[in-house]
Amino acid sequence: MNKPRVLSGIQPTNGSFHLGNYLGAVKQWVELQESHDAFYCVVDLHALTSSPDPKELRKNTLTSVAQLLALGLNPDHCTLFVQSHVPAHNQLAWVMECMTGMGEASRMTQFKDKSQKTGTDRIGVGVFTYPMLMAADILLYQADQVPVGEDQRQHIELTRDLAERFNTTYGKALTIPEGYILKSGAKIYDLQDPSSKMSKSTESLSGLIEILDTPEVNTKKIKSAITDTGREIKFHTQEKPGISNLLTIFSALSGKSVTDIEKDFEGKGYGDFKGAVAEVVVEYLRPVRAKALELLDDPTHLSKILHAGAEKAAVVADKTVADVYERIGLIPRA
Ligand code: TRP
Repeated sequence: MNKPRVLSGIQPTNGSFHLGNYLGAVKQWVELQESHDAFYCVVDLHALTSSPDPKELRKNTLTSVAQLLALGLNPDHCTLFVQSHVPAHNQLAWVMECMTGMGEASRMTQFKDKSQKTGTDRIGVGVFTYPMLMAADILLYQADQVPVGEDQRQHIELTRDLAERFNTTYGKALTIPEGYILKSGAKIYDLQDPSSKMSKSTESLSGLIEILDTPEVNTKKIKSAITDTGREIKFHTQEKPGISNLLTIFSALSGKSVTDIEKDFEGKGYGDFKGAVAEVVVEYLRPVRAKALELLDDPTHLSKILHAGAEKAAVVADKTVADVYERIGLIPRA
C-alpha cells in the first residue's frame, strides 16, 4: 500500500464526545481513512494519568469506540484499536523515556500547567512521561502524519526530536512524522462563553453539545446559547462571537456555506436562527446517537472489532519494537 500513513489518538476521559471533538478532530479522521493508511487508537493508558474510576474508564473506553464507529470510522478502512491492547506501546515508551532529557520533558506545557496547579510533589510521574508514551504511539506505526489539534504541536515536536535522535544514534529505524495540524475552520466554542473552546473542562455543561445527549437536551442548550447585541445573523467573530459560533456549527453540519446561511436568514431574528441550528444539529446527531447506543448494546460485537484492530496494529507495532530493541542492544528471547 502506498498511501501515506496517519496515526491519531483520543483519550477516553468522557462519557460522550462533544461537538468540538467531532468537528475539530474525528470528522477529519473519517475523511483520512479513505485517502490514508489510518491507525486510530483510544488511548486508555494516557487516561490513567488522571486517575479515573475503573468502572468509568471501562465504560468510557467502550463508549469512545462506539462513538468513533457511529461517527463514521469503518474498521475495514482503518485500524481502530485500544492502546492497552497492544503492549508494544509501553515497550517503546520506556525506550523513549530513556532518551528524553529531564529538562526537555519539564518544558512540556501540559506538564508545566498541571504541576503549577497541583505542585510537583503531588503530580503523577505519568503526567511527566505522558509525551514519551505519545511519541511511542506515533513512532511504532511509522506514521507519516499525525492529525491533531494545535494544542498537541509541542508533543509532535518532541516526537520528531526523539525519532531523529534515535535514528542518528542507532541507525534509521523510525519515520519522522509531520504534524497535520487540523485547520481552525471547524473550531467550535462554548455556547455560553464563545471566547473559550468547547471543552469538557468548563464548569457548566450548558455550553457543550454532547454527541450522546438526547435531542431535547441539545435543542434546549442551543436555544439558550448566548447571543450578541444587534439582531442580524452575520459572521463576525469579534462583534458577534455567539452568532458566529452558531454559524460555524450550522455550516459544518449542513455543508452550506456561511454566506448562504446568512442570506437565508436575512431579515429573520436570533430566535428563528437558533431554532434552525438546533434542528440541523439534532438531525445530524440522531442517527449517530442511535448507532452508538446500538453498538453499546452488543459488547460481543464491539470486542470482536477491537480484537481485530489490535491484531492488525500489533503486527506493525511489534515489528518496530523488535527492530528498535535489536538496535539498542537488547538480545532477543530465543
Ligand atoms: N495527547 C493527545 C490528546 O490529548 C492524545 C494522544 C495520545 C495522541 N497519543 C496520541 C494524539 C498519538 C495523536 C497521536 O489529544
